[in-house]
Amino acid sequence: MTRDIRDLIDELTATGSLEEAAFARLITGRTPEAAALLGERAAAVRDRIFGRAVYIRGLIEVSSYCRNDCLYCGIRRGNSSAGRYRLSDEEILDRCRIGYEGGFRTFVLQGGEDPFFTDERLVSLIQRLKAAYPDVAVTLSLGERSFESYKALFEAGADRYLLRHETADRGHYAALHPKEMSFDHRIQCLRDLKAIGYQVGCGFMVGSPGQTAEHIAKDLTFIKTFRPHMCGIGPFIPHRDTPFGDRPAGGFELTVYLLSIIRLMLPEVLLPATTALATIDPRGRERGIEAGANVVMPNLTPEEKRPLYSLYNGKVSAGAESAEQVAELDRRLRAIGHHIVTDRGDAPGIKYERG
Ligand code: 5AD
Repeated sequence: MTRDIRDLIDELTATGSLEEAAFARLITGRTPEAAALLGERAAAVRDRIFGRAVYIRGLIEVSSYCRNDCLYCGIRRGNSSAGRYRLSDEEILDRCRIGYEGGFRTFVLQGGEDPFFTDERLVSLIQRLKAAYPDVAVTLSLGERSFESYKALFEAGADRYLLRHETADRGHYAALHPKEMSFDHRIQCLRDLKAIGYQVGCGFMVGSPGQTAEHIAKDLTFIKTFRPHMCGIGPFIPHRDTPFGDRPAGGFELTVYLLSIIRLMLPEVLLPATTALATIDPRGRERGIEAGANVVMPNLTPEEKRPLYSLYNGKVSAGAESAEQVAELDRRLRAIGHHIVTDRGDAPGIKYERG
């Protein structure tokens, strides 16, 4: 590793930040030695705040219908080969029961932007879920909605919201999305969610088509200033029935490197080793945790529906990715000195006082 890269890592460790151009340099100057040093520093910061506990989130993919046509995504509206389904309240609550028995205390309801899921339906579902399991956190990941909608869902009991910003560069955003989608609206949604009181997650794909080191540096600067409670990053993986079907997948080592950088920037952030990371490498989950992540999100969708929620080809949902097999996941994490905990796993400093 060159002297300037070592200095940048020292500065990032000491101050939690870098100038945008320095982030870009840290990315282009990545070497295995730099990655090892960053990983060590990030793991130490994570250990100081969270210890070796790994939080689990039961991911329930509630709908594969989507009104959007994002160029990278397998469930885009324009993909007529995509199988579509939506879960009923009963199916969702049944999955929560199974998850609760397995030790899950956070459920993530994720789906495409499906107009069927009106505020009225979601409010009723969230209320039922919270009444049945008062000690769980409900995370929503349902895309862009109005301020009023986000507020109604929060008042119904939703605690957290995941909405990846996807890229912090306006031009790159336009290259990944159809023209009816707006970068400004997406950022406004993130601000609205924070203002309402949600614990908020943003995030981006690594190696999405057209992404440069400067774009990633912008993502890091955005994350530093937005200060999300959670941050989801994973490699881009092509889906054959999308316009990006023949593009290469994002880099595994780069993704792991960025997880370490984000941990050093935001010591208290809840940082998942994502499914996409586990998909492109059989040790992806473990490598993510070793690099500073502290969350995994096993799949709790009804098994027969999982193949239909196909954001990208090869998406893993079995074995240690499956909520039914948390024991296997725990065993694998214990092998690297970590362990799963049964805990809501709120962002530090967030006191759960909403009764
Ligand atoms: N590869 C990797 N991640 C993807 N996502 C969507 N499509 C892909 C893909 N082809 C991510 C997006 C979205 C999240 C739910 O999944 O970042 O926000």
